[in-house]
Amino acid sequence: MVRTVVIDRYLQEAIARGVDTVVNLGAGLDTRPYRMTLPASLSWVEVDMPKIVALKEDRLAGETPRCRLARIAADLSVDDARRAALAECVARARRAIVLTEGVLTYLPLEDVAKLADDVHAQAAIGSWIVDFSAPFLNRAVRARGVKFKNAPIRDGARDPAAFYAAHGWRWTEPRHLVVEGEKIGRPVPWPIWFRPIQALLPRRAQEALRTMLGYALLVRA
Ligand SMILES: C[S@@+](CC[C@H](N)C(=O)[O-])C[C@H]1O[C@@H](n2cnc3c(N)ncnc32)[C@H](O)[C@@H]1O
Repeated sequence: MVRTVVIDRYLQEAIARGVDTVVNLGAGLDTRPYRMTLPASLSWVEVDMPKIVALKEDRLAGETPRCRLARIAADLSVDDARRAALAECVARARRAIVLTEGVLTYLPLEDVAKLADDVHAQAAIGSWIVDFSAPFLNRAVRARGVKFKNAPIRDGARDPAAFYAAHGWRWTEPRHLVVEGEKIGRPVPWPIWFRPIQALLPRRAQEALRTMLGYALLVRA
């Protein structure tokens, strides 16, 4: 998947710059600590709901991660639990990076704001990989009735850079999935009927399609 390549690269670059701790919030079934080439001294902490953490502990019991791996069971929607989990994640960190992959899209914007403040409150966290998608794309996805379990896709901030700036984060290195997919030879498989229409779209609309979905590296402002 293109998004996996994009996020792996952000992480490798951060580790090369000296990050010693990766905090994956809403890690789900992610297996990067077992798959990626990582320094054995790196700390990796995953946070998810107790059910998911228990499932992973059980299924991956016989596997060896390539770095130091810990899991924390916490409901990140509960203010005290989220703050305690974040503090625990970075208790021994000097330079940490947070990853929220496929998580923020399902949160109301006010919850993303609270998370942004709480992540910022941990001084050891210097950067944060976030995803973003254009409101027109979210509306189109919702119109098709797509949901993750009972979680509808939310609209997100209209101007994500300004939104995160208000919470102490600077928007850097946006990487758009359409563009990154082309670079690695995995272009979006647009439906065949759409291709001639796309070619005829005004330049601005074509640009909106190319930048409708992606990731960015937030750094402490
Ligand atoms: C769509 S999955 C993404 C998983 C993974 N990051 C990935 O990209 O493959 C969302 C994850 O967030 C977790 N999650 C959702 N709400 C949560 C909450 N309130 N507290 C902790 N984890 C939560 C879910 O359990 C799930 O594992």
